[in-house]
Amino acid sequence: MIKTSDLEVLFEKALQGIDTKEFEQIGTVIKVGDGMCQIYGLQSVVYGELVLFDGGNQGIVLDLGDDHVTAFFLHAHIVVVEGEVVKRTGGSFKVGVGSSMLGRVVNALGKPIDELGDLKNVQERSIDSEIPGIVERSPVNEPLQTGIMAIDTLVPIGRGQRELIVGNRNTGKTSIALDAIINQKGKDTVCVYVAIGQRQVNVARLMHTLQEYDAFSYTSIVVADASESVLNKYLAPLVGATVAEFLRDEGRDVLIVYDDLSEHAIAYREMSLLMRRSPGREAYPGDIFYLHSHLLERAGKFLSGGSITALPIVQLQGDDLTAYIPTNLISITDGQIFLDTHLFNSGIRPAINSELSVSRVGGAAQTKAIRKVTRSLRLDLAQYSELVGFSQFGTELDIVSQRQLARGSLAVELLKQDTLQTRSFVDQALALFMFQNGYLDGKVKELAVTLIWQYVSYVKNLHNDVYEVILHSEDISTVTEKQLHQYAQDFLLLNT
Ligand SMILES: Nc1ncnc2c1ncn2[C@@H]1O[C@H](COP(=O)(O)OP(=O)(O)OP(=O)(O)O)[C@@H](O)[C@H]1O
Ligand SMILES: [Mg+2]
Repeated sequence: MIKTSDLEVLFEKALQGIDTKEFEQIGTVIKVGDGMCQIYGLQSVVYGELVLFDGGNQGIVLDLGDDHVTAFFLHAHIVVVEGEVVKRTGGSFKVGVGSSMLGRVVNALGKPIDELGDLKNVQERSIDSEIPGIVERSPVNEPLQTGIMAIDTLVPIGRGQRELIVGNRNTGKTSIALDAIINQKGKDTVCVYVAIGQRQVNVARLMHTLQEYDAFSYTSIVVADASESVLNKYLAPLVGATVAEFLRDEGRDVLIVYDDLSEHAIAYREMSLLMRRSPGREAYPGDIFYLHSHLLERAGKFLSGGSITALPIVQLQGDDLTAYIPTNLISITDGQIFLDTHLFNSGIRPAINSELSVSRVGGAAQTKAIRKVTRSLRLDLAQYSELVGFSQFGTELDIVSQRQLARGSLAVELLKQDTLQTRSFVDQALALFMFQNGYLDGKVKELAVTLIWQYVSYVKNLHNDVYEVILHSEDISTVTEKQLHQYAQDFLLLNT
């Protein structure tokens, strides 16, 4: 008769020399559906790890359960079946990144979709990089000019800053980001535009506009359009950030736009619900805050040279700034540009609400020239919105208030700016010089604004030496200021 102890000895002998670790690297698909599957057996797999299916698909493990793990598929067109063998790779998902991505459009897996052939000289990088610590960062003190006067003067953005663009549907959010990209032409900043959950036709339109304005050659576009899987929408910003980091490591200043993170949050919510994680506020999973803060911490100005400026966009529902995702992003970023439907519809475009918009870096990231001529602007605007309220009640206003009202409405008029009409900081400074010194007070505001821009052209064309001095010194010195006053008087004599 065989004793149990004998069997144990026999089994032990048979198993000797077999590496059990190898079995931990292999699993079996037990359930497939909704672009994901459950896998049994990958005991030591880690969160975010890339796994390979025998049938050729790849997946990313995003949930670690007690008896199974969940992976989302990278390729929607490759079928995965129950019983299929899955192997660990021991690493996270990597994309090939390089300078050759500028002037190209890639999908969320970093593969070109523009029919211009393969990307050349790419380097494989994990999409989940380590966040640089405090000692590796330097203060944000260099301007990133958007060319949009209301932003560069009231909510200036510095290189390495994270400024949120927030507003309802159709309030000009994308237009601001697009103008900011176009304004980087000739300024040695390169750009990455990440489109998440948008319609393809909108992305195509944006690409054509960039081409038309010679801005595509220094821009890389990463797209996960509305029709793509939730995993792709989740990955697109991470891939965009990886491209930006590569460019930064080459010592460049990078501007990255995430358009928009509401879609990103919605994709992640869907994934979390599919993974049966417990929903939190507005049914979003609790770690959405971590996901977005981790993403935006990848931006910054770094001691090693190079910077990443991030312009995340978030869409509001019914102007509700207190919704979960917008409040999260407001607390993560260094300020926000709030676009107001009411202003947009009343023709004040860009529809920037100057009271609710802030930049926590502020003046440190402005040229001296701009700083000198914007002192009264914010105050004039604040007093204006207060007085407008009063004047609507038909209250008789005193002379001082009437004057303030007129200056405020001139300021609003001056800050109106069409899309694709970016202005250099010198043009902005000259216009604000005229405004600050009240040269056109008393005139009808539309005429006043026309005259202000004519004055800018006048100085640019007839006194180009002075224009150039401001451009290169980025400042308006006492001498220059005197000259500008003289030109203003000459100009007004000729034109009024
Ligand atoms: N400063 C501006 N002056 C005139 N028109 C503008 C301005 N900004 C935006 N628009 C126009 O408003 C429309 C909406 O702009 P845009 O697509 O940028 O908004 P959005 O907030 O990104 O919209 P969505 O919510 O659909 O993404 C476009 O037709 C655009 O040309
Ligand atoms: Mg948009």
